[in-house]
Amino acid sequence: MNDMIDMKEEQFELDNTPDAENLWKAIGGSFSNISQAISEFVDDSISNFRRNWGKATMVRTVRLTLHACGEKVDITVEDGGTGIRNLANAMTLAGQADKETPLNEHGYGLKHALAYVDAKGSGWEVATRTEEDLKHNRCQVVKSPYAIGKGKLNSVYRTGWWPAHLGPTGTMISVSCSMEMLRTLCPEDNEKQKTFWQLVDILEEDLRYTYANILYNGEAEIELVVSDGKTSRQKKLKPLFPQWETGTLQELPVQKYDLGGGSIQIHCRYGSICTDKNNYSHYIRSMDASGVEIRINGRVIEHGLIKQVWGRSIHNSQNAFLAQIDLQTDSWDALPSTKNAKNGFREEDPRLRKLFRWIRANVQLPPSSRETKEQKLLAQLAEKKRAVPGMTRVAQEEGVFRTIGLNERVDLLTAQGGAVTIFEGKAGQTKTRDVYQMMMYWHGCVQDGIPVAEAVLIGERHTKAVRRLIQHINGMLGPDGRPYCFRAVTWAEEGITA
Ligand SMILES: Nc1ncnc2c1ncn2[C@@H]1O[C@H](COP(=O)(O)OP(=O)(O)OP(=O)(O)O)[C@@H](O)[C@H]1O
Ligand SMILES: [Mg+2]
Repeated sequence: MNDMIDMKEEQFELDNTPDAENLWKAIGGSFSNISQAISEFVDDSISNFRRNWGKATMVRTVRLTLHACGEKVDITVEDGGTGIRNLANAMTLAGQADKETPLNEHGYGLKHALAYVDAKGSGWEVATRTEEDLKHNRCQVVKSPYAIGKGKLNSVYRTGWWPAHLGPTGTMISVSCSMEMLRTLCPEDNEKQKTFWQLVDILEEDLRYTYANILYNGEAEIELVVSDGKTSRQKKLKPLFPQWETGTLQELPVQKYDLGGGSIQIHCRYGSICTDKNNYSHYIRSMDASGVEIRINGRVIEHGLIKQVWGRSIHNSQNAFLAQIDLQTDSWDALPSTKNAKNGFREEDPRLRKLFRWIRANVQLPPSSRETKEQKLLAQLAEKKRAVPGMTRVAQEEGVFRTIGLNERVDLLTAQGGAVTIFEGKAGQTKTRDVYQMMMYWHGCVQDGIPVAEAVLIGERHTKAVRRLIQHINGMLGPDGRPYCFRAVTWAEEGITA
């Protein structure tokens, strides 16, 4: 207590201004490939178009140019939006003072992307022209190197100069990188290096995929202009959509839902896709490309989600499964947070976990081929049993342990003359643990008062261990004092073929 009375506080000064050069190097590590970085520039342009929707002077086009010269690639990303309203904020790390739509989330994208593409920090420039600048026949330019603090950045008004071609106002980012940086688009390509034009094709596919819904609904256009000194190419990007296998597509009605921060609309469709042979990495029936894809207002954030949603991996035979979820809202709070580089969601966000619950409740995972085979065999067995004279009941997937609030499903249950037989079916060879699974169903029947007389394990073949265990169990008494009566048969013995 006395210590507290004697205590005094005296302020002293600490300067924790970060070293801009070191910071630039550190923030440049946010992405896994150049598509992700370029998408940050595109996001900012689209966000600006959305915010200023309906403005007559605006040209809702993003033009990406790549000019290769030897091992160097000059890149520009230009838009015909309304320009950057607050350039100081735009150049501030975590500058969130002028966010326009939920596509502006963290206040990092522009800086992170520049630092990734131009790690040396020696050759980038951001030029922007607002309506105010237009009146003064000027644009605002800020150029490398990055600096922190009042008046530290290299920023100028340029009069009588506007390098962009799209509209009277807008933004143009220029940055140079090495061909090596472009190769981040195809890192596993160590046998035969891809050419510049092949890398451009991959980048194009990524953009068509990431912004598919936005390109489709006409909110923005993306143009790609590429040259290597000899050839040049200019094209308007078309959205990339999956090709669905006939009859597999399920489209759910749009649902209003609250993930915990206000109402959003969930657009959801799912089914099996065919491989598109023209594609490099998207919609190609591989483990990475299938699963759940989640977009925010049409922009893809994460894909390939299976284990995160259902808690288990899928079998190779399920690689064609794709679920597309698009969350639509104008509200920042209503959406699960994304990672700073917008290449995924933050796993700990409760809104994401609630979304996963929604997906589990609304999206049906396809059965694996193993399950399908088993189901087919069991369906045949059920058919045969139905034809047996005196059979009073044949039920697949019958729940037991219901009296204690569970629903453990028995593969097949038949009743004849008041005696019940349960079947546990396995497509291939059975295992000892299958015998114990049957034991659980036996106990469930006894618990629920179902007069179970026999339990049959049916598979392609049985190991010695399985037969020995069944023999052992048949020498024991069950929970109601009666002996167990287990039997092992094969599909062939029952006259069933796959
Ligand atoms: N092309 C553009 N047109 C208009 N404003 C822009 C443009 N690019 C950037 N800005 C402005 O600069 C701000 C900072 O952009 P930056 O990408 O660094 O962060 P952010 O978009 O706010 O958040 P995020 O980290 O999610 O990208 C934006 O909020 C926006 O106000
Ligand atoms: Mg951004």
